[in-house]
Amino acid sequence: MNFRRLFGMTVLLLASLAGAAGQNDTLRILAIGNSFSVDAIEQNLHEIAADAGAVYIIGNLYIGGCSLEKHALNAESGAPAYSYRKIDAEGGREVREKTALPQALADEPWDVVSFQQSSPLSGIPASYEPWLERLIRYVTARLDRTPRLLFHQTWAYARDALNLNFSNYGCDQKVMYLSILRASADAAKRHGLELVPCGTAMQNYRATWYRDNVNRDGYHLNLVGRYIAAATWYCVLSGRDVRGNAYMPLHLTPGQVKAAQESAAAAVADPDTVTDFGMRSNSINYDEAAVPAYKLPELMRYADGSKVKGRDGWESRRRAEIYALFEREMFGRAPAGPDTLKTKMKESAGEVLGGLANRKQVRLDLGLGRWMDLLIYTPAGATCPVPAFLGINFFGNSSIVADEAVWRLEPETMQRRYGAYPGIDRNKVESRSARGAQASRWPLERILEAGYAVVTFYNGDLDPDFDDGFRNGIQSRHYKKGQHYPEPDEWGTLAAWAWGLSRALDYLEEEPSVDASRVAVFGHSRMGKAALWAAASDPRFALVISNESGCGGAALSRRAYGETVEIINRSFPHWFCENFKKYAGKEQLLPFDQHELLALIAPRPLYVASASLDRWSDPKGEFLSAVAASQAYGLYGYKALKGAKMPAPGQSLVSDRMAYHLREGKHEITLFDWEHYLAFADRFLKNKKCLK
Ligand code: GCU
Repeated sequence: MNFRRLFGMTVLLLASLAGAAGQNDTLRILAIGNSFSVDAIEQNLHEIAADAGAVYIIGNLYIGGCSLEKHALNAESGAPAYSYRKIDAEGGREVREKTALPQALADEPWDVVSFQQSSPLSGIPASYEPWLERLIRYVTARLDRTPRLLFHQTWAYARDALNLNFSNYGCDQKVMYLSILRASADAAKRHGLELVPCGTAMQNYRATWYRDNVNRDGYHLNLVGRYIAAATWYCVLSGRDVRGNAYMPLHLTPGQVKAAQESAAAAVADPDTVTDFGMRSNSINYDEAAVPAYKLPELMRYADGSKVKGRDGWESRRRAEIYALFEREMFGRAPAGPDTLKTKMKESAGEVLGGLANRKQVRLDLGLGRWMDLLIYTPAGATCPVPAFLGINFFGNSSIVADEAVWRLEPETMQRRYGAYPGIDRNKVESRSARGAQASRWPLERILEAGYAVVTFYNGDLDPDFDDGFRNGIQSRHYKKGQHYPEPDEWGTLAAWAWGLSRALDYLEEEPSVDASRVAVFGHSRMGKAALWAAASDPRFALVISNESGCGGAALSRRAYGETVEIINRSFPHWFCENFKKYAGKEQLLPFDQHELLALIAPRPLYVASASLDRWSDPKGEFLSAVAASQAYGLYGYKALKGAKMPAPGQSLVSDRMAYHLREGKHEITLFDWEHYLAFADRFLKNKKCLK
């Protein structure tokens, strides 16, 4: 243990003794700062302390971008240059403009005063003195008793920050962080100040699976960043551990709060090091020999250990048992659909796509101010209701077809309504959502010619595909009073999408041109996961297609090959419900595996497909899962894929009620896949007499 760490822990211990003695005492804290102290102490800090039974009165002497030099000169001249912002004992806020530093010093009997350098200079030691020394001298001379003196270590900018001052550090986050670390530690040591290691806390959080997501504009903090900073301040001020503090800032997810608390606590315990507290990425296994030995949960055994006998036991009890586990531990509970679905036919046109199809665009009112837009193509000239393929699209209805009449969501609208797509740059959003950009995945002509309708909607209509704390999705409309986040067993994003598939089917039951009893629900990748959950939840879906749905879809979790439960929860924390997070790295503790999700679809026809180069989705895990699920089909007298051997790339296996193929190539949905799906669907859904 290095000296500074020992020192830090001693300070913590002493402060915690002091804290324990006067736990309910009021602490008066004055920051001499700038917008970075606004970020750090003006929200969350009072509330975190209140949750722990303490009262913090907080003052912030604010001038945008103010340096130590300017503060020292302002102090000495008494210039009324500050916006003095104060949070009182009850958490009430007040701003007094044109305040002089001496006035604020006299405003309260401050227990704590903090100093900080402006962010561009924070890693430049020469910029600190003589100003810090003069400022400390001024402050201590004006107060009756010497308060605790703190140095607020600020943070390095976001890796992609567009800020001219970043060039002081070669536009390199690590260089900036290490410079701040050194300069602030030296300053604190020189003057005997307690360090508030917010810079290290941000690096700790950036090293978790939430990555570099603490800033809102590259240098100021976003909601998580602000919470991390306040949590760090709280640890230093109180000497207590912030972990487990129950104050939950609006719009943060429990996972973010946990990582933020860990980041703050680790920074205070070890201010000089970026700490690994077990939320880092692990390596990806693509080695069949390294797949752990595992035993799949038995499909045909009840939770109490007794054997399921026959179809009756399955239908009356075991199926419901498995469903309830998936619902509670993985996808989350969704509400019932609206009693009556109000719809608005926005457009209906005949003879489109070169005379091949009729087109409808229908807005479904989901209640509570939400709607979704269905795009429907039916084969022109069908003489009775046709079967349909229903699937969700990733980038808007207009992205699936180069048909000028399909409403297009402009990238601006998408970003405004659906969020800024963190992690995906704007150019990518624009190119992927361009009209017809996804058309190769939707071979409309081929499907329509085969006699099927195609029905689709945009996933973002239900819940946009990023971790927004469920602010923009449909979940927020269903909160109970005072609720700000789904409960640990309530719907995540995949369940919301699956719910949308059922609402689309509700509509198709009213749509005269489509036969709702013959709807195949399909999806590629994450939409494949949603399609499987929709089919498990809604028995009306007649046939199901999982195209490379991978982890959280068809692939067995226990193999931990390619994408794992840990990785998927880290990269897409919004997809599953909060309960699923606890299985990260602990697949063997899952009370189910994905073969049981497939089994919930029995005896309906099910097609599982993989691609040979798509190791991330674990083709073998998808195949073995389908084979294991065959047991449920067996109850109905179907062989399904029982005893089947993994086919070679380019080969397919088609059995009575199940099919599997391993397409050659990468993660995609291609015409090869569609040809197989159409042939499979023809066996169960086709109604030739409807076509001319
Ligand atoms: C990512 C993700 C997968 C998902 C895929 C997709 O690769 O890790 O789980 O299936 O995106 O939806 O394309």
